[in-house]
Amino acid sequence: MEILVTGGAGYIGSHTIVSLIENGFDTVVIDDLYSGHKEAVSEIKTQNFTGRQVRFYRGDFSDIALLDKIIKQHDIKGVIHFAAYSLVGESVTDPVKYYFNNIAKTVIFLNFLKNHGIGNFVFSSSAAVYGIPESVPIKETAPLNPINPYGATKLSVEKLLEYMKGAYKFNYISLRYFNAAGAHPTGIIGEDHNPETHLIPSVLRSLANGEGKATVFGNDYPTIDGTPIRDYIHVMDLSEAHVMTMKFLLESGETRSGVYNLGDGTGFSVMEIIKKIIEITGKEIKTEITDRRMGDPPVLVASYEKIKNELGFQLKYSIDDIISSAWKWHSSHPKGF
Ligand code: UFG
Repeated sequence: MEILVTGGAGYIGSHTIVSLIENGFDTVVIDDLYSGHKEAVSEIKTQNFTGRQVRFYRGDFSDIALLDKIIKQHDIKGVIHFAAYSLVGESVTDPVKYYFNNIAKTVIFLNFLKNHGIGNFVFSSSAAVYGIPESVPIKETAPLNPINPYGATKLSVEKLLEYMKGAYKFNYISLRYFNAAGAHPTGIIGEDHNPETHLIPSVLRSLANGEGKATVFGNDYPTIDGTPIRDYIHVMDLSEAHVMTMKFLLESGETRSGVYNLGDGTGFSVMEIIKKIIEITGKEIKTEITDRRMGDPPVLVASYEKIKNELGFQLKYSIDDIISSAWKWHSSHPKGF
């Protein structure tokens, strides 16, 4: 059974391909390599002992000629849509870029899938749809008030999927990720963004390059130590959740469409993360406190009761596993792929 994965050369996409093939799925990957890495797919292919296929197509997920070619050559039974721009800051300075790629192209893609009767669609959404929450942990029913264009684009696609379910019985699940981090336990693939803006990979990359610096964006938040609290989820737990969700859609169809949070329900402050990094790597870190970064909510913690109760999802990895796996990757790939 073949699953089409857009953005499969990216961070979460590539880890999900590993989980898919380990669960007996063949995969067809579309990625334009704007921010993805061909090397991630090549590594997976080289190390692939599952006998399952990983077919890579370099291109745009809204390119109809490419999509036509793919559906002629493959028996696509489900789609996981990761391909998107995801830099919150850039989305503020260039909103059209984000609306064009994340919404307009996704509409073209969804129209194609609908016209060809392809459903079973898993959408990569984000905690950014909530904006600044009124209370934590955040449930799926919390108000949806994105505070930046990136979050707004994710919410728009979620809305369209809901309408498509009503109009065409198109079945989908949107997964709202909190802070994805960590790397595959073997260390063959991991996080490699350019620029890197996320906390854990930024600090680990700096350590791997011998610099050992951490910048803390503000320590005057109303939290235990004044630094923002986030809910970190291991990328392999996220990947497994995509596979579980896909299996669910394949088995249960349209009636099980909906949205689910993916976090681990506990939060760590920026300073707590830096302390854990020092503890796990055994290295020293020079910490500099700067002004707040614009648009950072003080606390973002998920309630993931819904996916636990409805789909039986269980987390396997802890924050220590997240940091140690990410360190394995960064220390062996100081320059990324
Ligand atoms: N931070 C630092 N120093 C750094 C990097 C980050 O102090 O070098 C802080 C940030 O200010 C924030 C926390 O660490 O308080 C986490 O920041 P990240 O950039 O790692 O992650 P975000 O919480 O900003 O981003 C996450 C997801 C996005 C999503 C966003 C929604 O990664 O995809 O939540 O708010 F859009």
